Amino acid sequence: MAILNILRYPDPRLHTVAQPVNAVDTRIRRLVDDMAETMYAAPGIGLAATQVNVHERIIVLDTSDDKTGLRVFINPRITARSGEQEREEGCLSVPGIYETVRRAEKITVEALDRDGQPFTTEAEGLLAVCIQHEMDHLEGKVFVEYLSQLKQGRIKNKLKKRLRETM
Ligand code: NI
Repeated sequence: MAILNILRYPDPRLHTVAQPVNAVDTRIRRLVDDMAETMYAAPGIGLAATQVNVHERIIVLDTSDDKTGLRVFINPRITARSGEQEREEGCLSVPGIYETVRRAEKITVEALDRDGQPFTTEAEGLLAVCIQHEMDHLEGKVFVEYLSQLKQGRIKNKLKKRLRETM
């Protein structure tokens, strides 16, 4: 397995719309495993393929306390959503920035698992937020884009300044 490089906002590649996975083969399973390793090492609770510059519809996440709850969604699709929740979110591509976003409270998701088998799952609370956040990445959307232009500008400046300081 390998730890992959995570793109940092405002990298324009984060705005790429991901393509569906045609076949869950060895290459895809290796990518899933690398994404999981990258997420745990970061550490984070979710990662989309977009964030490692692979533009295919794959997300991994683990919202458990002890890192034993890895979930893999290939070609995920939200088929139902209800309610609303507001929760503070962060993102491995936007380090150090935490902002509140409004999302559906409950969702139903259809996807393929790591073996290419279709499944349907219902999620609510943090898990539902995490799935929606990662699925946004596959559409080329980063969570800070729900914020005002003014706030987005401030975040961009902050991250660029930090990047300069570490070079
Ligand atoms: Ni993210």
